[in-house]
Amino acid sequence: MNISGNTIFIPGATSGIGLALALALQARGNTLIVGGRRTDLLDKIAAEHPGIDTVQIDTTDPASIDAAAKQVLAKHPELNVLVTMAGIMRVEDWRQPESFLASAEAVVTTNVLGPIRLIAAFIEHLRAQPDATLVTVSSGLAFAPLRPPRATTRRRPRSTCSASRSGCSSPTRP
Ligand SMILES: NC(=O)c1ccc[n+]([C@@H]2O[C@H](COP(=O)([O-])OP(=O)(O)OC[C@H]3O[C@@H](n4cnc5c(N)ncnc54)[C@H](OP(=O)(O)O)[C@@H]3O)[C@@H](O)[C@H]2O)c1
Repeated sequence: MNISGNTIFIPGATSGIGLALALALQARGNTLIVGGRRTDLLDKIAAEHPGIDTVQIDTTDPASIDAAAKQVLAKHPELNVLVTMAGIMRVEDWRQPESFLASAEAVVTTNVLGPIRLIAAFIEHLRAQPDATLVTVSSGLAFAPLRPPRATTRRRPRSTCSASRSGCSSPTRP
């Protein structure tokens, strides 16, 4: 991937690694579109960083992904890079279903279904670009999993977060 001259959409860049990456890539001469759910942060980013475009998106919601994709591609038909940054990390204790099940479902919906749905929304457009790049975000947790606190059994289940990170690194692994 060329490091400059791209038009890049990063859903999951209102804070943290995504925002830092967006600012670093803008400084290298790329056009950036930042996505996320928090409109106050999107407005702040647009005000503080002229040239960065923003779009509201909830990557757990297929309708929101479709709407955001249409908005981004209508305004930036030259888009050639998608970074599926949006993700959550939760510590779970699988010995207590009442505490882990809702969390596990949210992790799978955000960290696995989110990138898959984003790829589905953008892949036809990206394949038509002369120099396109698709970036998924994994984690060291895929290889060094989180353990529940005070775990006592010898064979403890990996957290959903670790499993989800193994899963979402697969689509773009060479
Ligand atoms: N921090 C680490 O050590 C680490 C290590 C390895 C991998 N990662 C991964 O790297 C990515 C960024 O991590 P981070 O530490 O920078 O996290 P963060 O500061 O919590 O940022 C997460 C970003 O994802 C967005 N997001 C979360 N759920 C979303 C949803 N449903 N729809 C749209 N956007 C959503 C958030 O925006 P809104 O809240 O505005 O929607 C925010 O911009 C995550 O995927 C994380 O799992 C982090």
